[in-house]
Amino acid sequence: MFTVVGISGSLRSGSLNSMLLRAAADLMPPDSRLQILSITEIPLYDGDVEAAGVPAAVNEAKSAVMAAGALLIVAPEYNGGMPGVAKNALDWMSRPPADKAKVYGGLPVAVTGATPGLLGTATAQAAWLPVLRNLGTEVWPERLLVPYADKSFDASGRITDEKLRTNLGHYMAGFVEWAKKRRALS
Ligand code: FNR
Repeated sequence: MFTVVGISGSLRSGSLNSMLLRAAADLMPPDSRLQILSITEIPLYDGDVEAAGVPAAVNEAKSAVMAAGALLIVAPEYNGGMPGVAKNALDWMSRPPADKAKVYGGLPVAVTGATPGLLGTATAQAAWLPVLRNLGTEVWPERLLVPYADKSFDASGRITDEKLRTNLGHYMAGFVEWAKKRRALS
């Protein structure tokens, strides 16, 4: 079983990005699964907190990522960039410095996101690239843009846009296939 850890970059209960993440979990290809990792309990990074001991929620997140074959980030775009809560979670998981390569080195990563807007988080997805490069991950070059996402799910969070469902299924299948190959090479 190939495990992808999935993180939503939005904390709110009605998050479109969390809906997209949960929909991706239902569309995983055979012999793979999406393990959804909540970042809600991860505090704001503070060097004083780190000096007193890395928080349990951070250690749990690091362990989940290290045990997984790949990472999927599904995040909103805020002012043309990634949300602070998601960047904060990735920053915490890079601590202490000796663990950065253990968590992220060669890790296959896919980034997507949903927005009610028309550009589908394209700008934010590009903004992740230097961060993910710095962390030493391998970024999947394919992109899934999800514009007008407020019209793509019903009240229970199920996808109502059949084209999106098809595209998301293809996206996850392609990512898993690519990530397995990357892992076999490393
Ligand atoms: C936004 N939103 C937004 N959308 C977008 O497409 N490009 C952007 O640059 C921004 N900027 C932005 C800044 C801030 C501070 C907020 C709160 C929102 C709108 C955003 O896409 C929308 O609120 C989404 O619904 C947020 O994602 P979740 O919470 O639904 O997953």
